[in-house]
This record gives sequence, structure tokens and C-alpha cells, in this order.
Amino acid sequence: MNSINIDITQAVSLTQMQAAAADKDAAVKTLDSASGAGNDFLGWTALPSRTTQALLDEINDVARSLRESCDIVVCIGIGGSYLGAKFVIDSLSDCFAAYRPAQPGAPRLLFAGQNISEDYLFELQSLLTGKRFGIIVISKSGTTTEPAIAFRILKEQLEAAEGREIAAQRIVAVTDAKRGALRTLATREGYRTFVIDDNVGGRYSVLTPVGLLPIAVAGYDINALVEGARKMETRCKTDDIAATYAEARNILYRDGKKIEILVNYTPRLHYLGEWWKQLYGESEGKDHKGIFPASVDFSTDLHSMGQMIQDGERTVFETVVSVTNTAHSLTIPTDADNLDGLNYIAGKHIDQVNKMAETGTRLAHLDGGVPNITITIDTINEDCLGQLIYFFERACGISGYMLGINPFNQPGVENYKRNMFALLEKPGYEAETEAIKKRLGK
Ligand code: PA5
Repeated sequence: MNSINIDITQAVSLTQMQAAAADKDAAVKTLDSASGAGNDFLGWTALPSRTTQALLDEINDVARSLRESCDIVVCIGIGGSYLGAKFVIDSLSDCFAAYRPAQPGAPRLLFAGQNISEDYLFELQSLLTGKRFGIIVISKSGTTTEPAIAFRILKEQLEAAEGREIAAQRIVAVTDAKRGALRTLATREGYRTFVIDDNVGGRYSVLTPVGLLPIAVAGYDINALVEGARKMETRCKTDDIAATYAEARNILYRDGKKIEILVNYTPRLHYLGEWWKQLYGESEGKDHKGIFPASVDFSTDLHSMGQMIQDGERTVFETVVSVTNTAHSLTIPTDADNLDGLNYIAGKHIDQVNKMAETGTRLAHLDGGVPNITITIDTINEDCLGQLIYFFERACGISGYMLGINPFNQPGVENYKRNMFALLEKPGYEAETEAIKKRLGK
């Protein structure tokens, strides 16, 4: 029995799937034969099966030493160097973990470098004052502005509090093997390091030390996560459910459904939506094409975005990530007064109500003209998340080739950086600075 399944029958017809099959097969071939655009970034395709036990052991060892020496570990990174770990850790964590008493040997994991907010960094610095903290700094290029600013500030704080030698023991860098400012600094200061391979792009890097180290520091089983991904890698060779998903969403796109909404019914999966949006948005939004990836948390957002999805412009489809089993058990009590009228569901599990909300919403949205793809996962655990990660990554590569774009670059992301550097008068940007000042009338 598979612990992940996909149902596309409420989204596309068999006839539509048959008509698009040749296109899908061509895209699968392009990906699997490494013959398409961006084929120097396909290291992720065999990453699960190629990950060695030695690497996993080394990551677990470093994670253990951070767990033993720190009360807080700050994980610095942005985009693909942030969202994978954040999604997996949030999915596996108690919803109220931050409010539970800290346990020895289980440091709090916080994130920084994913924004340029002065208040965020000020408040983080103030929280870290007087605490035993460590830093995992992650940047493939080693030159990204947001994490570089956060690292400069926190490194200075750590060195001031503990001295340079202890600080160096509490800092781990995940970066390129040779290039970049972070590699240079790590070598000079003697930080422990892990390498992000050249042929794995940021948003496909959650199963490298980029994601695995923070996940291990948070106390989760990276062996099981990678094993789950291996299962999906193997499964897709004969039962390519990733290709099925890629094909269905492209049929919908060609049919005018330009926006895909990833839906969850549990707050634990909020960051799945954030990771998935980065993976698909940065991979597919090119050449004025691409399915716009959006996400909602139901039933919360049924009371906000629900109206738009039910009745707004008919350009959306939904992909629901449905979880079969909850981690805990809780039923609705009987109330003698029954003033709230809820006794008709007394004795039911909360999740039975949630599932009826899910089924009822799916039918209502179908009636409203919103096609629905459902991805069912057994349980939110490392095994299922590993499978889900590989499933979405593979589907993204196939889908990008079906769209006719390069799913593995991100040239558009450079535009804001150029303007920001020009405005900040970064050396080397003199001409851009002059032009942008003229444009702004300064
Ligand atoms: O997917 C990507 O390539 C990007 O989102 C990067 O992960 C992000 O820009 C961070 O880059 P870096 O790891 O080089 O700091």
C-alpha cells in the first residue's frame, strides 16, 4: 500500500489525459535523459539514492554537537536555503512547541536572514542576549545580501559574548565547495562546513545538508526523510505519479486555469505551501508563462479566501494535500445544555469534522467550477514528507518542460537585486546608480 496517492479525476478527464500524454512523455524523457534546458542542475534527481550513510552520520554528529552546546540555534538563509527546512520542521513540530518549556539537549531553532527587517533582527539579538546560541549559516552562492547581513550581526554578537574560538565551534556553514565569501570566511575561521553541490539548485536542495542539518538539529529523523524520498524516486520509475500531477496541472493551465491553489487542512502544513510556492514559482514563472502558485490554510481561509475561490474569476484550480491520520486523538464532548447545538457531533473526532469540511468544500468548489486535484498522505511523518518532497520536485521538473521553459534557473530574481545595489551605491554599480537616481528624479 502506498502512503501517498493522487486523484486527478475531479480535475481532468481521461480523454484530456490521453490527448496530453505524448507531451507529458516527451517532458519525462527530457528530464530523465538530462537533455533539456538547465540539465546541469539535475543533481537532485538521484540525490535520495546517492546520499550516503556516511554523510547522514556526519550531519547527525554535527547536529548532536550543536544540540549539546546550544540553547538556541539560529538558522540563517533565504529562499531555497530556508524554506525546505522550515517546512519540514514546522510540519513535524508540536503546534505550540515555542511555548513549551525548553528541554536540555533540544535547542530552540529560529530562523534569520529570510528578510531585511531591522525590527526582526533587533528583537532576535535581544532574545539571544545572555543565551548559549549557535548559528547554521546557509548560502549556496555565499553572497546573498539578506543572510549576509544577518550573519554579520549574529556572528559579531556571538564572538563578543563567547570569544572567537567558542564562536567558531558554534558556527556551521553550508555553502559552495570553493566559491563565495562564506567559503572564504569558513576556511579562515575554521568553521565546520557542508557542501551544496553545484548541480543542485537552491529550491531543490532540502534533501542536501541545506535542509538536513537544521532538520537534524530540530531532532527529526533525517534517515527516515531520505528513505522516504528514495521510495518515491524508485516508485516514479514504474508508477510516475509526479508525471500524472504535472500533466493534469498543465492540461488545466492550457484550459485557462492560470492559478493553482495548494490547500491544506492542518496548520502544521502551512509552510509546505510556502516551500511549494517557491519551488513552482521560481521554476515556472518564465518567458511570460507559468501557473501562478498560491496557497491557503483551510478551514481558516474558508472564512476569507473561500468566497473568492467559490465565486470569483474562474481561473483557479485547487490541489488539496489531504492527511489521512492525525498524530493525536481528541473527541467533541457532550454538553448537557447544548446551547451551541453541537451535541449532534458529540463523540466524533475533531478530524471527522475536518474531513467533512474537506469533502464538503471540494464538492462546493467543484460545483463552482474549480477543478480539484487531491494528494493524499497517510501521516505527517519523516517518511511521508520525504516522499512528498521528491514527488513535488520531480513533478516540477516535468511540468516546467511541459510548459516549455527552463525549470532550473531564476534569471528574473536578479532584477530587484540590481536596483537595490544601485540604490545602495554598491561599488561597481556606478552607472546603474546614476540611471536609477535619474529615474527617481533625485
Ligand atoms: O532556489 C534558489 O536558487 C534561490 O531561492 C536561492 O535558494 C536563494 O536565492 C538563496 O540563495 P543562496 O543560497 O545562494 O544564498
